[in-house]
Amino acid sequence: MSALKILVIPGSLRTGSLNVRLAAVAAYELAQAGAEVTRISLVDFPLPIYDGDLQAKSGVPKHAANLKRMMAAHHGVLIVTPEYNSSVPALVKNTIDWVSRVQDAHETRGQVFRDRVFAIASASGNRLGGARALAALRLILSACHATVIPNQLALAFADDAYDEMDRLKNAADAEGLKALVRQLIDVSQRMM
Ligand SMILES: Cc1cc2nc3c(=O)[nH]c(=O)nc-3n(C[C@H](O)[C@H](O)[C@H](O)COP(=O)(O)O)c2cc1C
Repeated sequence: MSALKILVIPGSLRTGSLNVRLAAVAAYELAQAGAEVTRISLVDFPLPIYDGDLQAKSGVPKHAANLKRMMAAHHGVLIVTPEYNSSVPALVKNTIDWVSRVQDAHETRGQVFRDRVFAIASASGNRLGGARALAALRLILSACHATVIPNQLALAFADDAYDEMDRLKNAADAEGLKALVRQLIDVSQRMM
C-alpha cells in the first residue's frame, strides 16, 4: 500500500501565528503516526476575493487550481483555522470558495472535497480556543460534501499552551490532538 499522505493547511499568514504553530505540532504528530505530511502556507497561494465576473472573464486563478491539485495529491487534509468574529477568517472561506470552483478534466466541480477526508483544528488566546470557527468551518466543508471527522481540537489559551520543547503542556490538549490525528489517519486509510 502507498504511504498515507496528509496535507496540513494553516489558515493564518501572520508571523508568529498561533495556528501555524499548532499546525506544526499536528504535522509532527501525523508524521509520528506514520503519515507522509506536507505543510503549506496560504501565502504561496494568493487569491483575489471571489468574484463571478472575474471567473467568467479569466477562469479560476492558477493558485486555486494548484491548491486543488495539491489537495488531490493527498488522502486527507487538516485545516487549522483562527477565529475571527466568531467565524472563519476571510482567507479560509475565500480559499475554499475558489478551490470549490475548480473543475479539472473528467471531474465534477468540487470533487476534491467529496473524495477525501478533512480534519479541523483551531487555536486562540481565549478560553473557547476558536470553537465557533470550527463550527463554521465544519458547516462550510459539509456544504462542499466533504467527509469531516468528528474529532476536532479547539486549543484555548494557545499563547501559553506549549512547554519548552514545543509540546502541548496540557494533557487533555495533547490527547485531543493525538485522537484527532488517529481518527484522520484511520478514516483516510478506509477511503484510500
Ligand atoms: C478581526 C479579528 C477578529 C477576531 N475575533 C476573534 C474571535 O471571535 N474569537 C477569538 O477567539 N479570537 C478572535 N480574534 C483573535 C484571534 O484569535 C487572534 O488574533 C489569533 O492569534 C489569530 O490567529 P493567528 O495567531 O493564527 O494569526 C480576532 C482577531 C481579529 C484580527
